[in-house]
Parts: sequence; C-alpha cells; structure tokens
Amino acid sequence: MSRSFLFLLGSSRPTGNTELLARRAAEQLPTDVEQRWLSLAEHPLPDFEDLRHDADHVRPTEGNVGLLLDATLAATDIVIASPLYWYSVSAHTKRYLDHWSGWLRTPGVDFKATMAGRRLWGVTALAHEEEEVAEPLIGTLNHSAAYLGMRFGGVLLGNGSKPGDVLKDEAALVRAKTFFAQEPPLARFPYENANANR
Ligand SMILES: Cc1cc2nc3c(=O)[nH]c(=O)nc-3n(C[C@H](O)[C@H](O)[C@H](O)COP(=O)(O)O)c2cc1C
Repeated sequence: MSRSFLFLLGSSRPTGNTELLARRAAEQLPTDVEQRWLSLAEHPLPDFEDLRHDADHVRPTEGNVGLLLDATLAATDIVIASPLYWYSVSAHTKRYLDHWSGWLRTPGVDFKATMAGRRLWGVTALAHEEEEVAEPLIGTLNHSAAYLGMRFGGVLLGNGSKPGDVLKDEAALVRAKTFFAQEPPLARFPYENANANR
C-alpha cells in the first residue's frame, strides 16, 4: 500500500512552531508519499457527544466530522501535530481523538480494524526547556495507538514560545531530518512492555 500522510494541525494559531517543525520533517518524505495537511482550528469539530451506545448512531458523511473521518480512514500515517498545552494535546486535538471513540462504534466504519497496523506519529512544540514535561502528551498518543493496534513513531519535540522560535532549536531540526525514516514498532501499553521483559 503506498504511503499517505495526514498531518493534523492542532495549534490555535496558524504557522506556529509545531507546524514549522512538522513541515521540516515532512520535507524529508519521498516525493511519491502523499501528504494532506488539515488544520483542526480551520475545520473545527463539534463537541463530542457520546452516542456510542445509541442504536441509531450513523456514519457522518458531511461537515468537518465527515471530512476528518474520511481523511483519517484514507491515511496510512496520521501525524498529530499539536502544541503542548497544559502538558498534553491541545483542545482541538483532544476533541478529534474523542471522535475516534464515536467512530469505533459507528456501524459500517470498522475503525479499529482499519487503523490496526497503521502508523501514528506526534510532533509538538513546547516552551519549557526540559522536554520530559511533554510525557503526558507522549503517553496520550502512545496509549491511543496501542489501544487501536497501531504502530507508534514517537513524538518529535521542539522548543519555542513565539512563532518561529523552533527554527532556532538546532537539535530539533536535526531530529526532524530522520523522524519519519524509521518503521515504527507496534505501540504497547507500559504494562505490556514490562511483561515482555520477563
Ligand atoms: C493554552 C496554552 C497552554 C500552554 N501550555 C504549555 C505547557 O504546558 N508547557 C509548555 O512548555 N508550554 C506551554 N505552552 C506554550 C506553547 O507550547 C508554545 O508557545 C508552543 O510554541 C506553541 O506551539 P505553536 O507555535 O505551534 O502554536 C502553552 C501555550 C498555550 C497557548
């Protein structure tokens, strides 16, 4: 299956550090790899309504929900490009992930089987110098990938506060050059890794 990357921009401002870093990494993708870029701020999803257990729950075909569902199902690689907001993903990004829960139960979508084996990646910019404060965001993405049986490529981190700052983070720019080059392993919950070492 030829690769098709969906970049989901989760910042609340255009062309921020997260997007700049994601674009640096994407520049390294081979030309035959399709790239689609969607801003979650420009395509806002409605607040997630938990209709998972309602019998009349139907597949969304219109509006931003239909657009993002179709784009997600079509991608071999999903890149969550969310700034670090309060140590986790932005609200735009979180709302998108919440909609996965609806799509998991939507008749005719087969979301879990479709996503299994596909790749999830993260890109984030943060103002904090110590990168370990991004652990909650990394955990959110890793565990979400593990839940769906996806591969997880990790999170490309870059430092910055005002737009453009990340372009001064030389280490991040170096990491961006090879970020998408690896074939990521299947995501595992931490307790599965612990068991694997026994
Ligand atoms: C609502 C909000 C919450 C933030 N929370 C954090 C945080 O928890 N840790 C941190 O290091 N930076 C935090 N920041 C700073 C942003 O991560 C930083 O400015 C980043 O460059 C924004 O990414 P963007 O340029 O792609 O929008 C926060 C910024 C905003 C607006």
